[in-house]
Amino acid sequence: MSMHQGGEKMAIAPELSIIVPVFNEAANVGPLVTLVAAALEDDAWELIFVDDNSPDGTADRVKAIAATDPRVRCIRRVGRRGLSGASIEGMLSSSARYVAVMDGDLQHDERVLVRMLALIRGQGTDLVIATRERDGNAITGLSGQRSLVSDFGRFLSRLVIKADVKDPMSGFFMVRREVVEAAAPKLATEGFKILADLLATTDRPLVIRETPYVFRERQHGESKLDARVAFDYLGFLLHHLTGRLVPVRFFLFGLVGASGVVVHLGVLKTVLAMLPAFGFDIAQTSATFVAMFSNFLLNNGLTYRDRRLVGWSLVPGFLIFALSCSVGVIANVGLARIIFSEGQQWWVAGLAGALTGAVFNYVTSGLLVWRKKS
Ligand code: GDD
Ligand code: MN
Repeated sequence: MSMHQGGEKMAIAPELSIIVPVFNEAANVGPLVTLVAAALEDDAWELIFVDDNSPDGTADRVKAIAATDPRVRCIRRVGRRGLSGASIEGMLSSSARYVAVMDGDLQHDERVLVRMLALIRGQGTDLVIATRERDGNAITGLSGQRSLVSDFGRFLSRLVIKADVKDPMSGFFMVRREVVEAAAPKLATEGFKILADLLATTDRPLVIRETPYVFRERQHGESKLDARVAFDYLGFLLHHLTGRLVPVRFFLFGLVGASGVVVHLGVLKTVLAMLPAFGFDIAQTSATFVAMFSNFLLNNGLTYRDRRLVGWSLVPGFLIFALSCSVGVIANVGLARIIFSEGQQWWVAGLAGALTGAVFNYVTSGLLVWRKKS
C-alpha cells in the first residue's frame, strides 16, 4: 500500500473524504472500514465518522480503529443530533478535493465509491449521486411505508429542486468540496435530507451524474429515520418554497400549532357533551390546557427533537411553555383588537393576531424551553 512505503507511514493528503454520519452503529463501523479499504485500495482517501455521542460506544470503536489506521478519523459531537448537521460538519472538516456522504450501516454499497470517484474526476462533474435501484416499484431495503414516503417526497421535491434527478433523497453521494463550502452557510442542519437541501440551495446549476446501486438490507442496529421523516420533509419543502426566509422549524412549530386547534375543538366538544354541568368556561379552559400539553409534547418530540427534554426536565419545560404561550395569547388578542378597531375585516385582525402569537411563541419557546445547548 502506498501509505506504508518502506515500513514508514507516509502521509498522503487524501483526494477523497468519505463522511459517515453514525448513531448507534458500533457493530457496523469495523466491517465498514474493512469494506471501504478493500474497495478503494490505493486511492488516497480518508473516512471521517461523525458520531452524535451514541450511547452504544460507536465513537470508542471508531477511535480504536483510528489509533492504528491514519485514514480513519472520528468527530464526536455532544449535545447535538441530526443526520444533516453531522454530514455538514464532517464535510466542512475536510480539505480534500472531493467529499462523499455515506451511511454507516452497510446499506450503501461501498464498491460504488470507485465508480463515483471515476465519474467525479471527469471534466466538469460537480456531483455524483448513487441512486437506489428499484425492484419493481419499491426501493429494496426500505419498508413499504418508507417507500411510499420516499415516492411522494420525490414528487414534491420537484417543487423546490430544479435539477431533474432520480433519487434526491439518496443519502449516498460524492461532490466537489467547493460546492459544499459555498452552500454550507445556507444549508439546514435539522433533518435528514442533506442532498435535497444541497440541490435546492446551490446558486449555480450543477453538473450531475447518477449511478445506480442496490440498497442493502440492514444487518445490525436499527433505522433512526421513522414516520417523523415525512413531517420533517414538509417543513423542508415549505422552507424552500418561501425562498428560505422562514426557518424549517417555524413551519414544524406551525404544523404542531394547527394540530393543537384540532385537539382543542375535540376536547371542547367532548367535555361539553359528556360533562354539561361544567359549563362552557371550564370546558374551554380544559381544552386550552390539553391542547397546550399536546403541543408541548409534539414540539418536544418533533419540532425540537434534536434538543428534546427528557425525564424531570419536562416539568419545568412545560410550565415555561404554558407561561410563554399565555403571554403569546395576550400579544395575539391585543394586536387583533387594535387592528379590528381600526376598521379592518374580522379575519384580517384574527389572522394577524394569530400569526403574531405564533411568532412570539416560536421565539420564546426556542429561547426559553428548547434552548440550544452550548
Ligand atoms: N451522527 C448522526 N446523528 N448520525 C445519524 C443520525 C444522527 O442523528 N441519525 C441517523 N444517523 C446515521 C445512521 O447511523 C446511519 O449511518 C445513517 O445516518 C442513515 O440512517 P438510517 O437510520 O440507517 O437511515 P435509513 O436507512 O432509514 O434511511 C435511508 O434513506 C433515507 C432517504 O429515504 C438513508 O440512506 C438516509 O441517508 C436517506 O436520507
Ligand atoms: Mn439505514
